[in-house]
Amino acid sequence: MKKIIVIVVFVFTVMLTVFAAGATEEEQYQERMKRTGGYMRMLRENFKTNNRSKVISAAQELESIFKQEHKFWTKRGTADAAKLSQEARESAKAIVVASRKGEDDQAAVALKNLTNSCTACHLAHREFTSGCSGRIK
Ligand code: HEC
Repeated sequence: MKKIIVIVVFVFTVMLTVFAAGATEEEQYQERMKRTGGYMRMLRENFKTNNRSKVISAAQELESIFKQEHKFWTKRGTADAAKLSQEARESAKAIVVASRKGEDDQAAVALKNLTNSCTACHLAHREFTSGCSGRIK
């Protein structure tokens, strides 16, 4: 049974790698932003209901996403977006630290800062194509 699981996991990993290699950088970017939106929703909802452990795990995911964002924009040579990614990463980290200590007021401030980074970068670098769908500008 264990062997089967190992094989299944292996095959999935290979498939995912092939898929990731096939997707363009823009597609990967959009997929990363979709995940960002999802984790942000999870963060907000759990912040409201005071579920700190879930707040922490969502903020940790966001921290790692914005680490990738920082790399992406640095490589592209877009300084302001790289800076905004870094700020977003720091705010996500601040949420983790504050929530671990039970400092919800501090976490709320960091959450507000994080939201400001989303908005600032979207205004500067997100172009709407049709409806809600967009691309990098
Ligand atoms: C450093 C720049 C930057 C930051 C910071 C940023 N975004 Fe984005 N985001 C973009 C760009 C560029 C797009 C357009 C890309 C696309 O749609 O292909 C986008 C698109 C999106 C989308 C739409 C994805 C789709 O389905 O087309 C969502 C949702 C999103 N961002 C959520 C967030 C949230 C939530 C935050 C903050 C926690 C955030 N973003 C922070 C640059 C950023």
